[in-house]
Amino acid sequence: MLTLQAPAKINLFLRVLSKRGDGYHELASLFQTIDIFDQLTLQLTPEDKFTCSKPELENSDNLVMKALDLFRKKSGKSFGLACHLVKNIPMQAGLGGGSSDAAQMLKGLNQLLSYPFEDTDLLELARELGSDVPFFLTGGAAYCEGRGDIVKKIKSLENKTLWIIKPPVGVSTPVVYQKLDLSKLVERNPKLSLQDHLLSKGEYYNDLEEAAFAAEPSLRGVKENLLAQNFATVTLSGSGSAFFCIGDVYPTVPKDYYIRRCNYL
Ligand code: C5P
Repeated sequence: MLTLQAPAKINLFLRVLSKRGDGYHELASLFQTIDIFDQLTLQLTPEDKFTCSKPELENSDNLVMKALDLFRKKSGKSFGLACHLVKNIPMQAGLGGGSSDAAQMLKGLNQLLSYPFEDTDLLELARELGSDVPFFLTGGAAYCEGRGDIVKKIKSLENKTLWIIKPPVGVSTPVVYQKLDLSKLVERNPKLSLQDHLLSKGEYYNDLEEAAFAAEPSLRGVKENLLAQNFATVTLSGSGSAFFCIGDVYPTVPKDYYIRRCNYL
């Protein structure tokens, strides 16, 4: 039996550079894993079984089940798997929970089946599952390009203690990308943003923020309310709807919000 921790991520900055012919967007983003985790327990068994702490996620649409199917197809191996997923990372939050679970599923299966795949093969499988999945094979801090799937691991950044705050409303990633107006984005050089972060003086920003506000207008007020509490930074993670907030503040938020204090991994 294998128990694996699947961390959440935030995007310290996220630039959207262009729309590609394949419908995806070309990104340049600094990803950082944080210490909020889902947990995946795997065991080879005669029959497949999938259970989840959130029963509504126990279905074949779950990215961990898609990872299992893809692994079986590409490895040609036949095996049964009992899998239990404990969900702690909020969904539709831009924190990468589903992608992180899928990456751990690939790594866990590779271990349980005595490594049929090299790391480069796992990376290809991860790319097929989603743009953020490759990052989670290694985690830590990484500069990600392409649709987010070209991952360059960088040295560890100086830790920042932050708050993750998410209102009950979630947002769908494709809807946010549909709302994006590339002509309205601030021209910034992401390579310079990266250099600044490596020197601990980086700016936090997210080109998807206005698009997320267009998709879910109440999010603008959430951000304004948090900024009014004197945080130095309140930035949307990924396509939202979670914000990461940095500053020496003990925030006040409505009771139905998700709120966690956390650190970089
Ligand atoms: O790759 P993934 O399945 O996570 O992407 C979900 C959706 O988000 C895509 O279908 C696309 O609409 C959008 N997306 C995008 N550009 C990216 C990543 C995602 O347009 N770089």
